[in-house]
Amino acid sequence: MSTATDIREQVVELAREFAKEKIEPFAAEWDRTHFFPRGVIDEFGRLGFLGMCTPEEFDGMALDTVTYLMVLEELSAADAAFAVSIGIHNAIPMTMLVKHGTPEQKERWLKPMARGELLAGFALSEPEAGSDAAGLRAQAVKDGKDWVLNGAKAWATNAGTADLMMIMVRTDQPNARRGAKGISTFIVPTDTKGYTPAKPEDKMGLRSSNTAGIELNDLRLPVDQMLGDEGMGFVYAMEGLDAGRLGIGAQGVGIARRALEHCLQYTNERKQFEKPIGEFQAVQFKLADMATRIEAARALTHRAAARKDAGEDISHYASMAKLFASETAMWVTTQAVQLFGGYGYMRDFPVEKLFRDAKVTEIYEGTSEIQRIVIARALRQR
Ligand code: CAA
Repeated sequence: MSTATDIREQVVELAREFAKEKIEPFAAEWDRTHFFPRGVIDEFGRLGFLGMCTPEEFDGMALDTVTYLMVLEELSAADAAFAVSIGIHNAIPMTMLVKHGTPEQKERWLKPMARGELLAGFALSEPEAGSDAAGLRAQAVKDGKDWVLNGAKAWATNAGTADLMMIMVRTDQPNARRGAKGISTFIVPTDTKGYTPAKPEDKMGLRSSNTAGIELNDLRLPVDQMLGDEGMGFVYAMEGLDAGRLGIGAQGVGIARRALEHCLQYTNERKQFEKPIGEFQAVQFKLADMATRIEAARALTHRAAARKDAGEDISHYASMAKLFASETAMWVTTQAVQLFGGYGYMRDFPVEKLFRDAKVTEIYEGTSEIQRIVIARALRQR
């Protein structure tokens, strides 16, 4: 009989092999050409990886959160852009549906998502509502048995490539500005009339992931496509982001780990002053600090995941994990570019992409400043 440890090892090994064969060799080219590898995502999904933590009764793999993060680390080490499409789908729309979906919604949306037949995304931000997410203005108005949505969303991962988006809009009185209380969540298939994704953003990093705004133009949905209770959408989004932020923590660890691996190899091979640069203590100290910070970031992220699996409220632990791991990714990749010197600044060498990919981990799913706010508020409430 397989133990939980055996299952973890098998799943992570499967993801590692998949990443090594089907993702990493192509990642630089996808990055250069902005190619979104939907076919590879679908193939990964058919192995079960689009339903990683989803309960078995909804066709998921029912993995624990630590195993899920270990898979995301492997993907991120290969290509952080690939990892984010998988991570968002698994963490945010999935968490929202598992927790708040009706039995019919679970049958119709959650099960095909977990089987890898539907790719999902999440749209909270707007051009004027980034860190202040409760300031969003897209509006839904009741019309008979339907809701009609209008407005503009921004920077939504998978917006132009997903089959399904979870979209947060106001359902209070138009122009009421009642903050977090007046927001609801809708399940929106992307082929619904009135859903128009904008041109994909031209980003610094994660260039092969799809990030786009969305125009909602008289988009009509039956009432049974609202998720959970009216007015609770902000809370559902925050719960989803708690899970999402752990995933970004693992993404930071994966990016940083790969940068260190490249540096270990390079500093053994690169000779200056007639010896490998890895023999210089200044270089060794950098490598030692990189490895130590990565280890700490992974431990913090996994500790928060274990708390989640134990049923604890992890909001500020997820923020700590994301904050520390994303700042680790940025620091480690900056050192990596430095160690590679002139070569590090060139597109031909892999650390340049890792450096660009690392930056967004300090920005999306809540900036480092927002994570500090969440942590500080939790401390002051004790
Ligand atoms: N879980 C459950 N409920 C939560 C919660 C959580 N983690 N966080 C807040 N809430 C609840 C609060 O308890 C409160 O409910 P009550 O009034 O009933 O007590 C309600 O939500 C409002 O909370 P706040 O008063 O704390 O709201 P705020 O306006 O002060 O905002 C914030 C708090 C932490 C700053 C929040 O706005 C935030 O996280 N901002 C960053 C947004 C963000 O991460 N955006 C990223 C979008 S996704 C993305 O990047 C694109 C992508 O596709 C990757």
